Amino acid sequence: MRRWKIFSKKEHNNFKENFFCSRVNFYIWCPKTIVMILLDKKWMDVLNEDRELGRISGSNLDAWTNLYKKKDLFRKGISWHIPSQSLIDCLVEHSPIVSVGSGLGFTEKKAINFGANIVMTDIAPSEKNLWCEPQSGEDYQQVIALEAKEAILKYQDRNVFMAWPPYDNPMGFEVVSAMKVGSILVYVGEDRGGCTGNDDFFDFLEKNFKELDYDVCIPRWFGIYDEVKVYQKIFDDI
Ligand SMILES: C[S@@+](CC[C@H](N)C(=O)[O-])C[C@H]1O[C@@H](n2cnc3c(N)ncnc32)[C@H](O)[C@@H]1O
Repeated sequence: MRRWKIFSKKEHNNFKENFFCSRVNFYIWCPKTIVMILLDKKWMDVLNEDRELGRISGSNLDAWTNLYKKKDLFRKGISWHIPSQSLIDCLVEHSPIVSVGSGLGFTEKKAINFGANIVMTDIAPSEKNLWCEPQSGEDYQQVIALEAKEAILKYQDRNVFMAWPPYDNPMGFEVVSAMKVGSILVYVGEDRGGCTGNDDFFDFLEKNFKELDYDVCIPRWFGIYDEVKVYQKIFDDI
């Protein structure tokens, strides 16, 4: 099972140097290793700038507003989360997968290039999408128009990838309640009380799923607390 790329001490030190000195790196620190971030330099610069500004937010309103707009361009125009190699490896490992609420499917398309088997679905892979707005080169190509619960029922033999189910919206709950016992959910989002999912989703998850022991790391925007968790459904609606 390949979950992490563990670097040798020498490689580790090289990356450490790159990370802290040049700031044109594509790696993040995780508890045990360094993980590759799958962004091109343009967005990596925005991410680095975001970290800098996070420390001084409020004191420079113009710079903060300007950065917020750039960040929004990424989130709506590319992806609501930032993929890393360890997330991609996790999707490869748990293939075949059905992705629900895929948006522009940025992470999924990268994972497919690395050998994952993923069917991407979204309620509105079109200009009618309320959360995504293709404007930075990504498009809805290969994303099938399918409501999340229907996608789960149609692809019962696949594990599930769900990233950023909308806040205070039943979609997340509908997905976990429709999944069959035994299947795996790779979830990217915030915890209960954050800006993804709703209480019904987290209640159902707590009662019917067990969290598996994975350390999949992704980078975060300042002020956002999304993370990757891997669950297995063990009960059906208790
Ligand atoms: C916040 S975006 C996240 C998109 C993508 N997963 C990401 O991480 O960038 C939420 C996505 O869920 C989709 N969505 C909302 N309700 C849905 C539903 N009931 N069934 C399927 N997709 C839904 C939206 O169209 C949107 O693309």
